[in-house]
Amino acid sequence: MIVCICNNVSDKAIRKAVDNGVSTLSALREKLEVGTCCGKCNSCAKTILRECLEDQASQPVFFQPALAAA
Ligand code: FES
Repeated sequence: MIVCICNNVSDKAIRKAVDNGVSTLSALREKLEVGTCCGKCNSCAKTILRECLEDQASQPVFFQPALAAA
């Protein structure tokens, strides 16, 4: 789904950016230019960003003995 028509930014692109460490709307704007033209997509982009961050927070963290030993 296209979230930002002005800059052709999809929800998939937003999810990928969050997976790569983006965690704020301003960082999302800087990386993808979402919401930098008319601004009508800001609330939708913010909702997707929040959903992605909530999904990340609900992921289980597994203990990795090899990392603990390093
Ligand atoms: Fe995103 Fe216009 S739809 S800036």
